[in-house]
Amino acid sequence: MFAKRIIKLLPSPTIAIDVKAKAFKRQGIPVINLSVGEPDFQTPENIKKAAHRAIDEDYSFYTAPEGMIEVREAIAKKLFRDNKLVYDPTEIIVGSGSKQLLYTAFQVLCDKGDEVIIPVPAWNTFVEQVKLAGSKPVFLYLKPPFKLTATAIKKVITPKTKVLLLNSPSNPTGAMIDSRELKKIADFVVEHNLLIITDEIYEKLTYTQKHISIASLNDQVKKQTITINGVSKAYAMTGWRIGYAAGSKEIIEKMKALQSQLLSHATAIAQVATIEALNGDQKSLEIMRKAFAKRRTFCIKELAKVKELSFTEPEGAFYVFISIEKLLGKKYNTATVWAEALLDEEKVAVVPGEAFFYPGYFRMSYAASDEDLKEAMKRIKKFITKS
Ligand SMILES: Cc1ncc(COP(=O)(O)O)c(C=O)c1O
Repeated sequence: MFAKRIIKLLPSPTIAIDVKAKAFKRQGIPVINLSVGEPDFQTPENIKKAAHRAIDEDYSFYTAPEGMIEVREAIAKKLFRDNKLVYDPTEIIVGSGSKQLLYTAFQVLCDKGDEVIIPVPAWNTFVEQVKLAGSKPVFLYLKPPFKLTATAIKKVITPKTKVLLLNSPSNPTGAMIDSRELKKIADFVVEHNLLIITDEIYEKLTYTQKHISIASLNDQVKKQTITINGVSKAYAMTGWRIGYAAGSKEIIEKMKALQSQLLSHATAIAQVATIEALNGDQKSLEIMRKAFAKRRTFCIKELAKVKELSFTEPEGAFYVFISIEKLLGKKYNTATVWAEALLDEEKVAVVPGEAFFYPGYFRMSYAASDEDLKEAMKRIKKFITKS
């Protein structure tokens, strides 16, 4: 009955764990949910007010498929201010979350027989979306500290390679590509005439170095790059579903055509709120980043005390990717069963490494309150003594 591509499609494992954790919560079970990648902060007041105004001013009609001109202008301004990227609004598309724009980009660029290099550990969605486009995801396995290098890319490139996927800071490791390496990668991509899809959704959440957009390095690499970002993580707006992509006009035109047949456009009210998010008062952004930085420090300190665990200190995002290899083979054989037992017995939800194509690890999010993180660390330590 089903199309082949759908039979093979796997649902998001992170969302599945989140659903289970939320179901426990509804039953009154005191679960601590460190599974999903979602800031626990509320959307800043100035952004909420802009949305209220949009409702009052009747932003209730269809917009252009690529998004309102005002929001694309706001994005162009943001890309110039924050990322040293010069884009005309005609080279920008607004969508219903960066996830949807990633999907659209893969659909527009990738065919059967094409290969997409994906550095692993990787967010599961990249892989499923590449497969949905009929292309082959080529895993580039990185070892701790999970740093992508041009040399590593060289080893997996083939004549069929069409796209290199970048995600810095990375989900799930929080690793960033160092600036010197980024330049080498840009040169490599230009030399081999590849395309880059760069997911920069965590750009604002960095703790050790500043994020650099690869498209800002030179004009040629810019031509070959689609930069994807959104307001979900930086502005605590996950539920508003706004993402955006910037790239050459011809690519954006095709993405626009597909989007016009798929969703028409992103919600008008959320588009108006995005103008305020990107170009209004940016104070809340730094407040949230500092809170994440503090929680990161706490988690690193606590996790370092547990000899059974090992991890690389994350440079960005709000995750720690932790090895439990020393624990496996006793009571539990895989990270998946270990994480399931942690949820069932201690009511802490984390995501097993298998969800990122990296067994033997789990990902915990520190986008949770200080109290929850403290309690979660206690429960994880208790669970480890039993594993
Ligand atoms: C790497 C990465 N990209 C994109 C997204 C999705 O963001 P959005 O809410 O804009 O669809 C996530 C969410 O977990 C993510 O981890």
